[in-house]
Amino acid sequence: MHPLMLLGLSALQLLRGAQLPLRLPPVQNPDSQWQDLNARPDANWTGNLIFDTVNSFLQHWPNTRYRNGHNVVPATVPVNTLLYHGRDDDKLPAVPEWTSTDPEHSWPFCSAPPTNESITGCWQLTLVTSRPLKVLYFDGSSAANIQEGGPMDAQDLLIWGEVNPERWVDERDRIDDLCMWGKEFGIDGYLRMEMDFEIMLCDFSSNGGVELLAADYLAAWRAQISSPPGRPKAPAAVYSQDPRGVEMIAPDPGGFPVADLLRFETVHAGSWHNRYPGDTRIVLDLSRLISFYDTSLAPSLIPSRAGQQRWDHRLHNISASDLVAVKTRLEEALTSKDNAGSGIDWQTLYHVIVDRYADRLELLQYLLNTTNSLNIHDRARIMQTQLRIILAPYIPFTARPVPVNASTTSSNDSWANPVWQACATRHTAYIHGRSTLKSQLTASELVLLRALDETTREICRVLTRMWVHGVHAGLDPLILLDPASTPSAHISSVVDAWRMEVRELMNWLDWSVWVKCRPTCGPEELCYLPTWPWFYNRDSPNDAWKRPQPRCIRRFGPYSPLQAA
Ligand SMILES: *[C@@H]1O[C@H](CO)[C@@H](O)[C@H](O)[C@H]1NC(C)=O
Ligand SMILES: *[C@@H]1O[C@H](CO)[C@@H](O)[C@H](O)[C@H]1NC(C)=O
Ligand SMILES: *[C@@H]1O[C@H](CO)[C@@H](O)[C@H](O)[C@H]1NC(C)=O
Ligand SMILES: *[C@@H]1O[C@H](CO)[C@@H](O)[C@H](O)[C@H]1NC(C)=O
Ligand SMILES: *[C@@H]1O[C@H](CO)[C@@H](O)[C@H](O)[C@H]1NC(C)=O
Ligand SMILES: *[C@@H]1O[C@H](CO)[C@@H](O)[C@H](O)[C@H]1NC(C)=O
Repeated sequence: MHPLMLLGLSALQLLRGAQLPLRLPPVQNPDSQWQDLNARPDANWTGNLIFDTVNSFLQHWPNTRYRNGHNVVPATVPVNTLLYHGRDDDKLPAVPEWTSTDPEHSWPFCSAPPTNESITGCWQLTLVTSRPLKVLYFDGSSAANIQEGGPMDAQDLLIWGEVNPERWVDERDRIDDLCMWGKEFGIDGYLRMEMDFEIMLCDFSSNGGVELLAADYLAAWRAQISSPPGRPKAPAAVYSQDPRGVEMIAPDPGGFPVADLLRFETVHAGSWHNRYPGDTRIVLDLSRLISFYDTSLAPSLIPSRAGQQRWDHRLHNISASDLVAVKTRLEEALTSKDNAGSGIDWQTLYHVIVDRYADRLELLQYLLNTTNSLNIHDRARIMQTQLRIILAPYIPFTARPVPVNASTTSSNDSWANPVWQACATRHTAYIHGRSTLKSQLTASELVLLRALDETTREICRVLTRMWVHGVHAGLDPLILLDPASTPSAHISSVVDAWRMEVRELMNWLDWSVWVKCRPTCGPEELCYLPTWPWFYNRDSPNDAWKRPQPRCIRRFGPYSPLQAA
């Protein structure tokens, strides 16, 4: 079979391709910023980081991977949303307390006053929001009490003006001070994430916006499970500190596996929110988002990121004046009533971009890395066709090399600049082009717009460049050049260049959708990223737990999932 037939191209299409007028006037190039397909993004750009953090909001997986959150986002919890609170009596808390969105996550806190009974129950309150709650979301693993990596930097800077490593586990002060700080803005609570999402609620009284739906005295996990009737009481789960100050919940030494499984269920429940759209019980207002990756707001963080990997991006070196600017912007966002924003659904718009490119880039990466039985020409043609398919909505009829001569055009790809520009600008052209709409954008929306533009600009630059190289090498199914002018050695070097470009682009985008267990986990397993407070191999070389990598873990016996490997 002819390799092009493999690609599903009919002879008619080929004929049409051949018959297309190959000599056309150069396409207009209206905008000078679309001149250089070789211009790589500035290393200090953060558009890709803003893009990825925003696209990861409310999702457990990416925020477990990168615990160091960089955003603070006003949000709403709609009326009639259930929240759970485990405690040792049936009373509503009189002080700010933690609630969870899933009962699996409140279970470990469900308890009872100490008794000398062999079996006790434990108290779990189910609350329901009686009005929309105004909350503030800290992204990342913002409820993880880890000294390293800065998961709590943003909230600590907000309330304490500094990141004090000694206060890493100062949770009572943290919740009290957050609630005190937010009082003047009418904030009801704070959304954070650890094994699962939690909402710190400031007020459980009748003004607080929650009502008690049920106070249940549940079959207790430690007493009943660890000590069935007639058996001696087993020691409770042991909470310990590892030498680095990382809190571990050690397996219950005298217990039964089900106790571990019940605690493990917090991780399982968190995994329900792993991927887009995440935990939809909270509605974010992106038009009032504050990002520490916004270089116009916090330029002092640029040098501290220089040469650092993303895991190590911290906020604690922010300058005093930048912190004032951040707090001022946040306070404006929380108080301004006159600017409701443009109405653009940024979350969806961002996700459209991820949908359009995530699996296609992954497929290209696979094709570039596989050596199947096809020869290099045939494989290259398959990839070139994929590139054309990805760019198809943006390739004008007139876009083709001028003149059609591989040896003279390969050094000049300006004919493809309009493809790059259309691909990169189509999703936001309307916003840029309508002054009324543009004037409605809040400061936060301008940040979102710029990040989206920077991200699509780079995606489209690389894809267009790759496609152009393929065209010049005579690989494109619809622009036929003289095949004799493209020796195999040349094809090989085109493929090598493609491989590098895809790798660099995917590294730059760094989307967590590409981070998965390979091969896929079995039905008895769960794909897992090291999650506070359970770190697998925490003593492994190079502090691997600080750079979470996915692995399959067992969901139940023969050994408990929570045992440190
Ligand atoms: C339990 O403790 C109470 C006092 O708190 C005592 O009166 C009672 O005898 C104890 N019961 C058992 C079974 O030890
Ligand atoms: C990036 O930021 C660093 C630190 O501020 C600066 O030294 C460097 O010149 C910047 N790089 C570019 C390309 O602007
Ligand atoms: C950031 O601050 C820490 C102390 O808080 C200091 O050790 C470190 O050198 C600073 N890093 C930069 C890049 O300024
Ligand atoms: C490339 O292929 C090799 C061998 O099949 C594999 O080990 C590696 O993980 C692949 N890399 C990517 C990025 O898919
Ligand atoms: C392509 O350009 C080269 C260099 O200018 C020239 O030698 C060659 O004849 C041209 N080929 C065709 C098919 O026009
Ligand atoms: C590439 O081609 C364009 C349009 O044909 C032309 O304006 C430009 O000067 C060329 N660039 C180079 C480096 O030859």
